[in-house]
Amino acid sequence: MNVKRKKLYEGKAKILYEGPEPGTIIQYFKDDATAFNAQKKATLEGKGVINNQISEFIMSKLNGIGVTNHFIKRLNLREQLIRECEIIPLEVVCRNVVAGSMSQRLGIEEGTPLPRSIIEFYYKKDELNDPMVTEEHITAFNWASTQELDDILAMTVRVNDYLSGLFAGVGITLVDFKIEFGRIWENDYSRIILADEISPDSCRLWDTATGNKLDKDRFRRDLGDVIESYTEVARRLGIMKGMPTVIQGGLH
Ligand code: TMP
Repeated sequence: MNVKRKKLYEGKAKILYEGPEPGTIIQYFKDDATAFNAQKKATLEGKGVINNQISEFIMSKLNGIGVTNHFIKRLNLREQLIRECEIIPLEVVCRNVVAGSMSQRLGIEEGTPLPRSIIEFYYKKDELNDPMVTEEHITAFNWASTQELDDILAMTVRVNDYLSGLFAGVGITLVDFKIEFGRIWENDYSRIILADEISPDSCRLWDTATGNKLDKDRFRRDLGDVIESYTEVARRLGIMKGMPTVIQGGLH
């Protein structure tokens, strides 16, 4: 008998299904790409497969250095098993080089290195276009406690330090990235873990030698070669084994 699994949530680039055991969820990576709060949409064949593997690679490495996250294991080309958590309604952006919205908001040329990394918070609310918020808003509206915010900041700094080094080692500059966190409960205690995904959809990755963009800005800005660039990131990280058909398309 075929039993249809339960869909818990469908976002712009991922679907969450009920997992095989309580407290687990299956995270499915779609090929859909959106930008500017879904005003721009496309399907990029193979993107989900590549992001599933890049995110698996990065989350496993982060687990290995003690940045606890929701990743349990990859199940197949498009799916991974993750730990269920209460998502904190924040997009946490960490920047090393001025780009994107920071460049526009402050009128600073894209590519200007920052004297130190800057962490920003955005409230996850599509209807409001994810407005930027401060720590005051976050604690006043109980999106996260002061202690949770401290953990979020400390973990973001560790993610940035680790990933900056990882990418630098393969000739890529980590310009900025966005991460999300969740809360898990163990008896009466809660704990913050890293959640969602880390992939070229959620990072700005520039080839250090040429300055070429290897991330979702290729889609946002109509630069072309989106899949080729994501594939290049995977190849440099040494995770291309078993995915040659992605390049030829045709994966579903
Ligand atoms: P921004 O410059 O547009 O604010 O983006 C900062 C970083 O966050 C960049 O690496 C792209 C990523 N990002 C997302 O992952 N999702 C989003 O919805 C937005 C706006 C940015």
